[in-house]
Amino acid sequence: MSLSSSVFPRESFFLLAPLESLHSDDVKRVISLDDLIKLPHDDSLAQFSIGEYKPAIVTNDLFSFFRFNEQKTYLIFIDKRSESDADLRRYNFFGLVGTFGKGKIVASSSKQTKKSLNLTNVLSNHGQAFVLELCELYEDYDESQDWWMRDVIYEVITASYQDSNNDGFGDIQGLRQRLDYIQSIGIKTIWLTPIYPSPWKDYGYDISNFCDIDPRFGTLDDFCQLVADVHSRNMRLILDFVPNHTSNEHTWFQAALRNDPNYVDYYVWHEGKNNGKDLPNNWLGPSGQRMWTYAPERKMYYLHQFLDCQPDLNLRNDKVLEELKRILRFWLDLGVDGFRADAVRHLIENDDFRDEPLSKKAKDIDPNIFYDAYEHTETADQPESYALVRQWRRFLDNYSYDNCRDYLLFVTEAYHQDIQKVMNYYGANREERGSDVSINFLITYYLDKNDNEQHGLELDKQLTKWQKNVPRHAWSNWCLGSHDSGRVTSRLPSTELIDGFYMLLLLQSGTALLYYGDEIAMCNRPFTLEHPEEIVDITAFNYGEKYVEERTRDCQRTPMQWTSHSPYAGFTSATAKPYLPLADTWPELNVEQQEKAERSHLKLFRQLVKLRQQSPFYGGHQKKVLATKELYAFIRWLHSDIYLIVINQTTSGHEPITTDFVKLLKYQNKQLFGEVVAKSTNISDTSPIGKEGNRIELNQLTLQSNESLVLRLLSSVLEISLCIDNDE
Ligand code: GLC
Ligand code: CA
Repeated sequence: MSLSSSVFPRESFFLLAPLESLHSDDVKRVISLDDLIKLPHDDSLAQFSIGEYKPAIVTNDLFSFFRFNEQKTYLIFIDKRSESDADLRRYNFFGLVGTFGKGKIVASSSKQTKKSLNLTNVLSNHGQAFVLELCELYEDYDESQDWWMRDVIYEVITASYQDSNNDGFGDIQGLRQRLDYIQSIGIKTIWLTPIYPSPWKDYGYDISNFCDIDPRFGTLDDFCQLVADVHSRNMRLILDFVPNHTSNEHTWFQAALRNDPNYVDYYVWHEGKNNGKDLPNNWLGPSGQRMWTYAPERKMYYLHQFLDCQPDLNLRNDKVLEELKRILRFWLDLGVDGFRADAVRHLIENDDFRDEPLSKKAKDIDPNIFYDAYEHTETADQPESYALVRQWRRFLDNYSYDNCRDYLLFVTEAYHQDIQKVMNYYGANREERGSDVSINFLITYYLDKNDNEQHGLELDKQLTKWQKNVPRHAWSNWCLGSHDSGRVTSRLPSTELIDGFYMLLLLQSGTALLYYGDEIAMCNRPFTLEHPEEIVDITAFNYGEKYVEERTRDCQRTPMQWTSHSPYAGFTSATAKPYLPLADTWPELNVEQQEKAERSHLKLFRQLVKLRQQSPFYGGHQKKVLATKELYAFIRWLHSDIYLIVINQTTSGHEPITTDFVKLLKYQNKQLFGEVVAKSTNISDTSPIGKEGNRIELNQLTLQSNESLVLRLLSSVLEISLCIDNDE
């Protein structure tokens, strides 16, 4: 009988721990220590009981521990619950030992349908016990469970991607036409910003019906075709889930305004102060408006963290929570693979309705419009908001279990400088996890800085801030931009630097989120008050004329640039007018051009996506080698493979910089070579680092301004002291 099919009684798994280390509490509810000692030993299990012993997650319901020997590491897992507890439990063992990310099931107390488990997501029913032989993520890649960790999530605004019916709006059929392209970059997961019926006051984040498709994008049939297409390519689709608010045109809100007793409590209401003459408190939202608007129909104020046309749902109402689950189920039934939950910081408000204190910044900015003028102690990141995220995560676990579905992804957006609050969305412990991807906006905050403040030292601060604070059980993630922040290429001091930032995005450890068009280095398109009719993102007007140009997010939402020929870069036909003008750079920066060119941003991006799928980029170690104003360099390694990534951030005209990496890496011998694996497009072919495969000596590595490089070191990790020092 092969091991994987052997089944052993649950009690016998306790015997894999040294008896002298066990306490009666460890085995309680399953067996007594006295009876355990009397159990017969099974030779085929005994092989997992050799070597060092270390408890892993130990709770009332779970007893788990490691056994390490020279070749192998085993995790022994024993769910101690009895049949009366039918709850599905989820545990996270990731990061407890080394870089292990997977476990192969080598013995079990019941027949297993899976051969291996992802350590971030060990699901368990009562009474189960098994032994996992631990391995690296790349060694046992399982598309069905691991798909969200290795590859790239591509954010698409459907309206801006491809128009198929010549009305100037991108649509679902248009997106279908472009799947070949997306797949060709190596992207596996597409995230669509809202495509639901909407008055479109906030790019669809004002939803009037959660369970349909806005006609401008197509129909539910079109959507089902899209899902089928995406899946037939082994790709995934996730949708925006907007639980915080609806549009004021949603039937729930309309019913609430009519005092319909079934719907009134779907929203948050307040009589106001001073007999209704004054707002309930001083709360100001992130869209430049007070959070309260008077509804004469009800003679009360309703709460809205965002625009006044986006009333907040009352997420303390169980009926609303049921509705939201119904919505999740609706889309899951149609086959979607997960969600990006919008604005999770804003889900719950303190129901004492206390004023919020002014922040330190209040003296420099107008507290009537600017969100940062307050400490949002009452309206953001409330404990119940975290609980909701965990609840939705659990809902997805149960759904995938009950329906035999692949892993369902839950991404959360908490746009916040306070790193701890962002990390908390991951879930505070290993027993109850929240978000899989609590989006890491630190690089976008870095890009908020002026050109002269953007340099290696500042960059290092942001990258280190993430790395130091990310919980060991969490899987990292990186992004360079989104529909809410300007185009990364336009925010860098030099557009050439984009290639180096691709390396940061794609070669650091963690999931990568890419905003559509950034792979061809698309730029912002300025919108000005000379043409107010062009502005779609009306939120910008809340800040007064002075700020409209700076605040409008239309700049980064312009149509995708496909070709250099047709009038609208292939986005729509000559007879249509795009709903948003294209960026002026489209004739030079487009897919067609970059496919034709021998070297281009797009081609480098594609090359790096391939690279990141391999060890050591997927799952290996990472360490900073150097951070100066000019240079940022880091290494990735696992087993014997080691790579060095170097980014020169000096602006053009600066002298070339030569660095002795032999010394920095603490290499034990004298001569160390590196082989060029990838390079920024601005490095000329005739340079010593100009071609993939070129070998160069690392004691004198020279880079010109804005050049970036990926090298494979021609040495064993064992000789690089920098790695050994830190290899846990
Ligand atoms: C999120 C979205 C943003 C939107 C807001 C309100 O922050 O990313 O675009 O305006 O939520 O839904
Ligand atoms: Ca809310």
